[in-house]
Amino acid sequence: MKNILFVSGEGLPFIKSGGLADVIGSLPEALTKQGLGAAVVLPMYKKIIEKYPDLKEECTIRVKSGIIDKQSVVYSGKVENVDFYFIRQDDYFYRDGLYGYADDGERFAFFCHAVLDMLPHIKFKPDVIHTNDWHTGMVPILCKQEYTDASYKKYKHVYTIHNLLFQGNFPKETMRCFNLSDHYYNNGDIKFDNGISFMKAGIIYADKVTTVSQTYAKEILTSEYGERMEKVLAEKGNNLVGIVNGIDVVNWNPATDPALYKNYTTTDIRNKKACKRSLQYQLGLRVADDVLLIGIVTRLTWQKGMHLILDKLSNIMNQDVQLVILGSGDNYIENELKKIESTYPHRAVFYCGYNEELSHRIYAGCDLFLMPSLFEPCGISQLISMRYGTIPLVRETGGLKDTVKPFNEYDGTGTGFSFRYFKGDEMMHILAYAIKVYYYNKPGWRKLIRQAMTLDVSWDNSAREYKNLYESM
Ligand code: ADP
Ligand code: GLC
Repeated sequence: MKNILFVSGEGLPFIKSGGLADVIGSLPEALTKQGLGAAVVLPMYKKIIEKYPDLKEECTIRVKSGIIDKQSVVYSGKVENVDFYFIRQDDYFYRDGLYGYADDGERFAFFCHAVLDMLPHIKFKPDVIHTNDWHTGMVPILCKQEYTDASYKKYKHVYTIHNLLFQGNFPKETMRCFNLSDHYYNNGDIKFDNGISFMKAGIIYADKVTTVSQTYAKEILTSEYGERMEKVLAEKGNNLVGIVNGIDVVNWNPATDPALYKNYTTTDIRNKKACKRSLQYQLGLRVADDVLLIGIVTRLTWQKGMHLILDKLSNIMNQDVQLVILGSGDNYIENELKKIESTYPHRAVFYCGYNEELSHRIYAGCDLFLMPSLFEPCGISQLISMRYGTIPLVRETGGLKDTVKPFNEYDGTGTGFSFRYFKGDEMMHILAYAIKVYYYNKPGWRKLIRQAMTLDVSWDNSAREYKNLYESM
């Protein structure tokens, strides 16, 4: 039985800013069901310290690397079958946010070292170290080049790219946070432009690189999606693979979800209407069964296709629809969206912020889920919305393309709607079609709901693929 240690900047149930946390909160548990051992290590942010005062103190380590010389206490906890470890260093992590600080390079250089320094002192003995996104990208190179003790040579490294846009690119001076010789800068392994890139190091030094859908794995080899890493990625050859994400189908289950006004099942969806009415009521929308309610739950960034939504907002609202948006992020987008309630009273509402409970109620209460992303490595939101019978309308990119099968009115197959080119008119064209199906092809819409809700969005298949990958190493 192999043991896999996930190293990540966030993970449920402890801390979340996006889909990465969903994956870290559910894939390790799914692997234990496949007979593997799994553990997770995270930075111990302020929110974790405040919310989980009972975590157990495991050991104290000293991290010494370049200009860094600090102690860290390692904490632990267990969630179902998965051990969680936490690296506590309050100078770096006792802050309100997770990332986006001027010293992020130093903070995550520290974290990567601390993870490796912790290994000899904890119970969990990994065979594979599975790092994720830029925050943890330096682990493989450090493990292979800085940690000379023989015990570090036995680890295999998997590195997963959840979003190639965020690369952890820092000024060259960040080299001071490592004991790596300049050789690794001069030979180009970690050099990117005139600085260094944590993600590039992760790609080059991991034994296997994965990303979160097959389509994205192909897209990132092109200059359109490659974010200037396409050549480095191409060099990985067969060691770059796409494995699509699943979701935690126990937590995300309309039949048992405690956040919902009423629960419903695939075989009896009548209460989905009650969820819709209660959501409309809660948000001050006109309460009505017979109007198409469109939902959006997202980080407000350009990645998520917010250009298209802002450009076409008045066209969208010219249709017979209601709209609810839950999200936070970019200031400009937030300010634009703040106007919608006064422009379209009782028809459109924007909840600015992060709200877990409301997100569940939107996934359940809406009819259509809009996700016209510019690019989407995988996407968790469309998986959740399908599970809740809320039909996704997506752009055919990355994981959206791999997980949403477009409705075919002739044979009745499909689980959603999709369009190909990132153009407002294309989105509107397919939205008009979805609206038509909703109002005039009720049996078709009911079929869509049933097919979406019964689609397997669990981790079962993908956990097996990860297992095969680990075992091939
Ligand atoms: P990304 O990771 O790129 O943000 P994903 O679709 O993979 O996109 O995952 C987003 C996750 O974050 C989903 O679980 C979604 O429900 C959640 N989420 C995004 N924005 C919010 C918000 N404002 N409030 C609550 N949950 C949110
Ligand atoms: C990233 C991507 C998203 C993906 C998530 C989890 O945040 O933007 O598409 O679902 O990671 O892998």
